[in-house]
Amino acid sequence: MSYMTRFLTGTALTLALAVPAAAKEYRIAVGDGAGGSQEALGKAFVAALEEQTGGEMTGKLFLNGQLGDEQDTVTAAATGTLDFSILAINNITPFSPSVGTLTLPYVILSQDDAEKITQGEVGQQMIDQTIEDAGVRIIGWGYSGFRVLSNSKRPVSTVADLQGLVIRVPKNEIMIETYKSWGLNPTPMAWGETFAALQQKVVDGQDNPYLTIYAMKFDEVQKYITDLRYLFSIEPLIVSEALFESLSEDQQQQVLAAGKAATQASSEFLRSEESKIRDELVSRGMEITQPADDEKEFRDLATAAVWPQFYDQIGGKEVLDNVLTSLGREPAPQ
Ligand code: MLT
Repeated sequence: MSYMTRFLTGTALTLALAVPAAAKEYRIAVGDGAGGSQEALGKAFVAALEEQTGGEMTGKLFLNGQLGDEQDTVTAAATGTLDFSILAINNITPFSPSVGTLTLPYVILSQDDAEKITQGEVGQQMIDQTIEDAGVRIIGWGYSGFRVLSNSKRPVSTVADLQGLVIRVPKNEIMIETYKSWGLNPTPMAWGETFAALQQKVVDGQDNPYLTIYAMKFDEVQKYITDLRYLFSIEPLIVSEALFESLSEDQQQQVLAAGKAATQASSEFLRSEESKIRDELVSRGMEITQPADDEKEFRDLATAAVWPQFYDQIGGKEVLDNVLTSLGREPAPQ
C-alpha cells in the first residue's frame, strides 16, 4: 500500500502501530489549512516517521500558521525553537537566495520538471546550500501545482486586464519583480494576513495553487481565477538543522527516509486531487479564465525582465542554465 493510500484511508497505520508512551512528539508548523498539499505532505511524513522508528518518533501538525507565519517558522527552526515546518519555497528564498531559482517565472513548466529538479542533483545542492544559509534542512518536497491568479473584481486574460488590480504577493523579491514586469505594483504581505486582506478588500487578488485556494477557503472571498502557469509551487518540509544534528545516525536516516516517503505521497496527492479540487472550486462559483495566446505576453515580459535581475542573487546565470539544461531546455539568453 502506498503512503498516500495509507494516510488517506487513515486507519492502517494507526492500527498497525501503537505509539510507545515514551514516543518523542515533534511540532510541525503548517502554513495552510486542512485539505491541501501541505497537510497531505505532513500527514504522510508523520505516518512514515512512526513506521520508520517503530513509533519512537512522531509529529503533530499545527495547521493554518498556528506556530507563526511561514517566513517566521524558518527563523524559529533555525534557532531551534521549532522542530519542523512545511511552507512554500518562496518563503524560504529570503533566507537562502539560491532556492530562488525555483521561484523564477516560467522555469518549472510541469510537475515532472518540479520532481526532476528537486529530487535530482540540483535539489541536493539546494538542500546543502539552505543548511548553510538558513540553518534548516529540506528533508521532503511537497508539490502543490501552478500558482493561479485569483481576484474578486473581473476575469483576467491579458496583461492589460490586470492593470489597476491590487494583488497581494509574498514578501519575495522575485515575485514582486514578476508583477512589476506586468506593469503592477503588487502588495507584499505575510501569508497569515492574506485571507483577511482579501475579505476586507484591502487587496483585490493573490496567486496560489488550486489546492491552496481550496485549503484556505479563498473561494469565499474571490470569484475569478486566471489559469496562469508562471510559477509551480514547491512546498518543502524543513527540519531545524540543530535538531537534525542532535539525532543519532540511525535516527537521521529514519527522518530522511520518512521525508522521502512523504515526497512520494505529495506527488501522488497532487496528481490525484488537483483536477477534483479545481472542479470543486468551480462548483462553488469560481470562474476560470485561460490566459490569452497561451500566456505568451506574460511569459515574454516576465522572463526578459526578471531572470537577468536575479542572476547574482541565485549564484550566477550558470545556476539557472544548469536547471534549464537539466530539464532539456536551452540556457537562458545572454
Ligand atoms: C504564500 O503565498 O505566501 C504561500 O504560497 C502560501 C502557502 O504556503 O501556501
